[in-house]
Amino acid sequence: MSVLIKGGTVVTADQSVRADVLCSDGKIQAIGEHLDAPKGAEIIDAGGQFVMPGGIDPHTHMQLPFMGTVTTEDFYSGTAAGVAGGTTTIIDFAIPDPQQRVLDTYMQWREWAEKSVSDYTFHVAITWWDDTVSADMETLVKKHGVNSFKHFMAYKGAIMADDEILVNSFSKALELGAIVTCHAENGELVSRLQQKIYDMGITGPEGHPLSRPPEVEGEAANRAIRIAEVLGVPLYIVHNSCRQSLEAITRARGEGQRVFGEVLAGHLLVDDSVYRDPDFDVAAAHVMSPPFRAKEHQEALWRGLQSGNLQTTATDHCCFCAEQKAAGKDDFRKIPNGTAGIENRMEVLWHHGVTTGRLTMNEFVAVTSANAAKIFNIYPRKGSISVGADADIVVWDPSATKTISAKTQKQKVDYNIFEGMTVQGCASHTVSRGKVVFADGDLRVERGAGRYVDRPPFAPFYDAMQRQAGRKKPVAVKR
Ligand code: URP
Ligand code: ZN
Ligand code: ZN
Repeated sequence: MSVLIKGGTVVTADQSVRADVLCSDGKIQAIGEHLDAPKGAEIIDAGGQFVMPGGIDPHTHMQLPFMGTVTTEDFYSGTAAGVAGGTTTIIDFAIPDPQQRVLDTYMQWREWAEKSVSDYTFHVAITWWDDTVSADMETLVKKHGVNSFKHFMAYKGAIMADDEILVNSFSKALELGAIVTCHAENGELVSRLQQKIYDMGITGPEGHPLSRPPEVEGEAANRAIRIAEVLGVPLYIVHNSCRQSLEAITRARGEGQRVFGEVLAGHLLVDDSVYRDPDFDVAAAHVMSPPFRAKEHQEALWRGLQSGNLQTTATDHCCFCAEQKAAGKDDFRKIPNGTAGIENRMEVLWHHGVTTGRLTMNEFVAVTSANAAKIFNIYPRKGSISVGADADIVVWDPSATKTISAKTQKQKVDYNIFEGMTVQGCASHTVSRGKVVFADGDLRVERGAGRYVDRPPFAPFYDAMQRQAGRKKPVAVKR
């Protein structure tokens, strides 16, 4: 079955051109003017619309067991919500408990993800260290197409990676040609502040942001950056929420270090007033880490995106319903951390980024797909509209409007952090691997149609780049 997208303007990170796009066998077969439709092809009339690479959300948590519960969104419902918003690839996280075999964890996540309706791949978290972890990292890179390892610098007493784990894992990643990623918050400080605030009698959700101030994030970002600098390994910092971590990234990039930064749609658009809502359910629904920040940080984050010091946008899609959040009714430390957004990321970024003039359409493509594909080494297969690329495409109607609401969303969760926001510009059609999976508001997904995406390591590329930049020879630290 072929799909011909006719009469639209193809917009990539590099250019915008009027062209038809023909897809078959899961790939883009031809791009050009006045293409003929093969017999039986489905034709999408894209007149007046933009034809862009399907979104890549480089940070999701489907079916995640976390803080004593499991997210409501699994790989089926979560990827379906994604395609409804134009996102066709997710990079999720396989997260072992300390002492749990890393390879076993990865295999478990692979099995869970088989029900995905669109493509997926995994960052693998390193939460503890011994020789088996080192061996499993090697197996993952060499045999399973994993090229990124995640480190939680927060969540003390659970999945936190201390400096010893960071140094061991970063060194191994360097040896393997993988990139390291970090959730940057100083877990020791968070844990002390949580106790202090709770002891002061602040037990509600308003205690959450107080226990995780921006300085705690800035310190961890800077520490991860400096460790990566000493070892010579490329680093990607997830969900930067504040000026402090952005400044650390900007400084390092200015010094020629290969550091990348991600920002969440939520951190760009939601501020910390949500934690002062008198309704526990509303405030708790917004409990995520790092927390939403004061408005001045949002402005800084937009500037980070505009200047290119932040390269990707994500959601950290991690859904918990009110019933689950209620576990922390009397103690904010027990509220499961996480918010949703995969369905809305592209439309809120278009509305607040492109229609306001903060981002060009080409920059929009860069920050919603192409840059993630480049950083995680799946470009141009993903993140581009080019012959031979995967036929993952969103047809974007810039004149359509929509008011976001939990009542009408496809996301399987009972709230929406963008509730009531009216956006102009959204997906009219989404094509995943050459099949129309979303059309004019209706899902046409198939359970299990998504495929795992192998991501090759990139040692030679990074070695060359580091040398070109005249940086010190990497120091491999071995235990
Ligand atoms: O609050 C969050 N972000 N929950 C998901 C886990 C993480 O830290 O990314
Ligand atoms: Zn995180
Ligand atoms: Zn996350």
